Amino acid sequence: MYVSMKDMLWHAHKNQYAVMAINCVNMEQAKAIIQSAEEEKSAVIINISPRQMKAHGHADILAPMIKGMAKKVSVPVAFNLDHGADFEDITYAMQCGFSSVMIDSSSYEFEENVRRTQMIASLAHGMGLSCEAELGHVGAAKEADNEKEDLYTNPQQAKEFVERTGCDCLAVAIGTAHGSYPKGFIPRLDFERLKLLKETLQIPLVLHGGSGAGEKNIKKAVACGINKINVCTDLFKHARIATARALEENPEIDYMDLCIEAQNAMKDFIKNYMRMIGSSRRYDFEKHQGPEFD
Ligand code: 13P
Repeated sequence: MYVSMKDMLWHAHKNQYAVMAINCVNMEQAKAIIQSAEEEKSAVIINISPRQMKAHGHADILAPMIKGMAKKVSVPVAFNLDHGADFEDITYAMQCGFSSVMIDSSSYEFEENVRRTQMIASLAHGMGLSCEAELGHVGAAKEADNEKEDLYTNPQQAKEFVERTGCDCLAVAIGTAHGSYPKGFIPRLDFERLKLLKETLQIPLVLHGGSGAGEKNIKKAVACGINKINVCTDLFKHARIATARALEENPEIDYMDLCIEAQNAMKDFIKNYMRMIGSSRRYDFEKHQGPEFD
């Protein structure tokens, strides 16, 4: 079923588990994600960023394809614009048929972040879409932003932000960053801050930069209140490694078989991750109350 993120994330919030939000730029990735969700009987979110949307995974082509695939399975699938910054990108995604948008104005000062988020949240809600926002700032691993505590989310400020904007879930900065960390490095997460954020906000919380964060950290983050985990780098890495290995083993491999190798490697990774964060066989999709998109 093709749905917004709202009901699946509130279910995860009430039942203390997390749903994967996986970046996707083509049909092989969409198939790997949706097949994994169906086989694991798990809710799932498909993400695409404006950069990915422009470079390769054109939104007007991907959205109807994902919607069509989602409608053929029994589990809830949402399609979310990841890190929407420009209003043009966000409204374009809405027009293309996304079921959810993220407005990321986390680089603006507080009042401007509130103003921009309020506007997009009300537009999204009017169209039946969910809206994710970000306060504090999850930066880049290559800039070591994960260690910059001044970027972390302030719980009291977050309370005011959520009340004023009406966002459905909030991306929080607690010590992860996007992309690859230096080899062998595992980030240190501020779990006390996360617990306080959960206690104060009582809404679904989002962890960006899920790749390379370490299994122990991820499991503890879920136990402390994270309900959506964004993963991109690790998925792409699994596809690349499987492709390289298949080519090394058989340089004459048929292109379609190569795509299938990558797809299967991505499925293994996703299914294991779903089990790790507790979404497998968790969502009671037969009792799904929220609206589905036509
Ligand atoms: P990673 O690439 O570090 O997994 O981050 C993904 C992400 O947070 C997308 O919003």
